[in-house]
Amino acid sequence: MEESRKKVLAVYGSPRRKGNTSLLLKQAVLGARDAGADVEEVVLRDLKISPCLEIYGCMQNGRCVIKDDFQELYDKLLACDALILASPIFFYSVSAHTKILIDRCQSLWVKKYWIDKIPPGTTPLMKKGLFISVGATRGKKLFDGALLTVRYFFDVLNIDLAEVLLYRELDFEGDVLKHPEYLEKACAAGKNLVLSA
Ligand SMILES: Cc1cc2nc3c(=O)[nH]c(=O)nc-3n(C[C@H](O)[C@H](O)[C@H](O)COP(=O)(O)O)c2cc1C
Repeated sequence: MEESRKKVLAVYGSPRRKGNTSLLLKQAVLGARDAGADVEEVVLRDLKISPCLEIYGCMQNGRCVIKDDFQELYDKLLACDALILASPIFFYSVSAHTKILIDRCQSLWVKKYWIDKIPPGTTPLMKKGLFISVGATRGKKLFDGALLTVRYFFDVLNIDLAEVLLYRELDFEGDVLKHPEYLEKACAAGKNLVLSA
C-alpha cells in the first residue's frame, strides 16, 4: 500500500508578503512538495488572531475560548506531520504576528502540563520542524531570543526543531535574492524535513 503523503504546515510570520523570510519559506515549500508532501501555506497577516487575553478559559479542556482564526490554525498545528515557521527578527525576537500565534498556544501548554499533567521533557518529539529567520544586523546574539521562543513553542507542539536557517545582514525586501545559495539551502531543508518526518 502506498504510504500516505506527509502533511506539512508552512507558516509565514512576516508582515511583508515578498520579504526575505517569505521568499525563503517559498523555497522550503517547493522543496517539501518536491519530496511528495502535501503542504498548506498560512500567511499570518491575512488572519484575524487576537493576542492571548490571559483569561485561562483554556483551563476547561485545553482549547482557547477566543473565537477567531486561531481556532482553525490550532487544528492544523495539531494535525500536521511537520511545521515550517518563518519569521524575521523584530527587536531580537520573532515578529508580532508570530508571537501572537505562539502566545495563543498557551492553551496547548495548559492542556499538556496542567490538564494532562505530563511531566516536562517526557513527550517524544515525533514531528519535525524547521525555523527560518533573518535579521538586518550581524550580532552574534541576533537569533538567541527568537530561538529560545521557537524552541519552547515547538516543544509544546511535540515538534523536534530539526533544522534552523538563520541569515544575517538581510534588510530590504528582496535582499535574499542576492544570495541564491540561501534559497537553495531553504529548498533542500524543506525536502529534508519531509524525508525525515
Ligand atoms: C519592527 C522591526 C524590528 C526590527 N528589529 C530588528 C532587530 O532587532 N535586529 C535586526 O537585525 N533587524 C531588525 N529588523 C530588520 C528585519 O529583521 C529585516 O528587515 C528583515 O530582513 C525582515 O525580514 P522580512 O523581509 O522577512 O520581513 C527589524 C525590522 C522591523 C520592521
